[in-house]
Formats: sequence, structure tokens, C-alpha cells
Amino acid sequence: MKIRKVLAAGMICCISAQLLCACAEQQTESADKIYVGVTCYNRSDTFLEELINAFKDKMSDLEEENLDSVVTIRDAAGSQRTQNDQVRELIDAGCNVLCVNLVDRADPSEIIDLARESDVPIIFFNREPVAEDLQQWDKMYYVGADAKESGVMQGEIAADVILADSQIDRNKDGKIQYVVLEGEPGHQDAIIRTENAVETLRDKGIKLEKLNYGIANWNRAQAQNRMQQLIGQYQNEIELVLANNDDMALGAIDAYKKLNRTEAGMPVFFGIDGTDAGLKAVADSELAGTVYNDKDGQAEAMAKLAAALVTGEGMDEIQFREGKYIYVPYSKVTLENVGDYIKKEEQQSR
Ligand code: BGC
Ligand code: CA
Repeated sequence: MKIRKVLAAGMICCISAQLLCACAEQQTESADKIYVGVTCYNRSDTFLEELINAFKDKMSDLEEENLDSVVTIRDAAGSQRTQNDQVRELIDAGCNVLCVNLVDRADPSEIIDLARESDVPIIFFNREPVAEDLQQWDKMYYVGADAKESGVMQGEIAADVILADSQIDRNKDGKIQYVVLEGEPGHQDAIIRTENAVETLRDKGIKLEKLNYGIANWNRAQAQNRMQQLIGQYQNEIELVLANNDDMALGAIDAYKKLNRTEAGMPVFFGIDGTDAGLKAVADSELAGTVYNDKDGQAEAMAKLAAALVTGEGMDEIQFREGKYIYVPYSKVTLENVGDYIKKEEQQSR
């Protein structure tokens, strides 16, 4: 009887201790709950949509570390004004950290003012503000990748493919006639990718002749359109298409398919991103190569930084360049290793 009483008293003690613990846990949890407000320049952008999906996954992975979060996503649909309003609403709704994919990377001042007034830190991503803007306040960061690295890698992959296959120089004039499909003018990834891809090809000893270029704003349908015009103008002369991203490379391929060109009458195509469709096109040998723009790495860096900014813990574990920048490395994707990337993507989306 005595023993039973002691046991019962012990159990009651245990249960109340557990309840106390749970309460304390709940308290710290609610204090640390991460309310992330995300606004994206345009959600019809393939790469951005995949990056944002990866970000949502990384935020929910943080639950394993007892970090609860609510992620609210807004689409600015190409308007900086709309995006400024969205930031105001997200702050009013109680977001304690913002992830901003600027519409106009040269015009973040209103967003910076709004965030600073309410002391809500900003993680800019993918569309890099100019350095002077980022210096304006110490609670601003950038997560993205180094544009030059992707251009150099695209040039290196293209050089390897061209040097290994003499058929690519179809008219046998010792030069590669090429066109470039460019992203939005003014985007850090457009001009820099083009310049470095072309320079790298030249450094590798490949003689080039630029036929023309087309601006297609990262967009597959616009690229198809521009490519149709270029084919109309240059007929069979085009031997190489360098595209600033996969969607535009795929649009160029769409243009040739629409004209029922056989493989022998087609140039070689190179993209950048390694989107799901881009990786598949490499696996199907339609794209000769791409450069992986590590959306999972970027999403993870954003999630970790968002958590650290809200909880105040873990900032010292993050490695910044100049105290503000996180550049996630690119990597080369060709037919030889594309299977590894596809496998990785499948595992991650599980
Ligand atoms: C990606 C493009 C994307 C653009 C949007 C670039 O880094 O390579 O696919 O459209 O960012 O800002
Ligand atoms: Ca040629």
C-alpha cells in the first residue's frame, strides 16, 4: 500500500514536470516562430518557382529543430509598385523576416525604408541589389550565385563538346557561327553570363563568329519567337546557341522542332539552371549541357539565415562574403553526370 502511494505520488510529480516542460517549450517556440514574407518578381519564372518550392521544403525541415514557421508568398507579377505594396502588407501582417526577389534590382529603396522602420530584416535573393543599396542598413543580406562562374562553366562545357565533335562546324569554315539568347537587360546574370561564356570559348582556342543575339527575358515562349526570327534570317548558318538560362535554350529547341528540323540541321544548345525540364533535356541529348544553379543550396541558405535572424541563434555559423553575401557555387551538368542531378532532385522532392 505504502509503495503504491509513493509510486503514485512520483508519477504525479513526473507528469506535472512534463507539463511544465511542454509549457516552457511552447513559450519559447511561440517567441521564436518564424513568419517569413516572400515576394517574387514573377512566379511564372520557372527557376524562381522551383527555388521557392525548395525554400518551402527547407523551412518545414526546420521543424525537426523545433523551429516553427509560417511562409507567406506573394507574386509581384513584374511590377515594382505591386511589390512595394506587398512588402507593406507582409510587415503589417506580422512577418518577422522578409525574403525579397526584387522586380527592379536597381530600385529597392522603398522596400528598405519600410523594413527599416519596422526593424524587419531582409534577405534579398536571386536578383542582386547594387552594393551601395545593400550597405544602407546592417540587417540586409543577399543569397544568390556568382554570375561570372556560370558563364565560365557554360563556356567550358561548350568548348569540350565542340572540340570533341567536328560535325558541329557544319560549313567547315573553321569557325563556329553562334547566336546568344539573353535574359532581361540589366539583370546581373544576363550580360555577365554571355561575356564570360564567349570569352572562355575563345580562351579554349575556339574561333567564333557572332551572327546575332536576341533578348528573350528568361522566357521560353519569347525565346522560341526570337529563335524563329533568327532562323528565318540565318537559315542553316547557326551552329551554336548559347542561352542565358535553360528556359530560353528550350524555347530555341522548340523553334527548330516546329520547323521539323532533323538533328543534322540543328545547332548545339547550352543553357544554365538545371531546371527539371532542363535536366530532362540534357538526359534526352537535346541540350548539350547546362550549368546547375543550385536552387536547393540557395533555398537552404535562405532558410538558415531566416531562422538565425529571427531566433538570434546560429548567425556565427553562417559564412558570409563581406558580412552580407552568400554565393552558392554552380556546377557543370552534361550527359555523363545528369543522372546524378535527376536522382538528387527526385530525393529532394520526396
Ligand atoms: C536564372 C533564370 C531566372 C532569373 C530570374 C537567373 O538566375 O538563371 O532562369 O529567370 O534568375 O531572376
Ligand atoms: Ca562554321
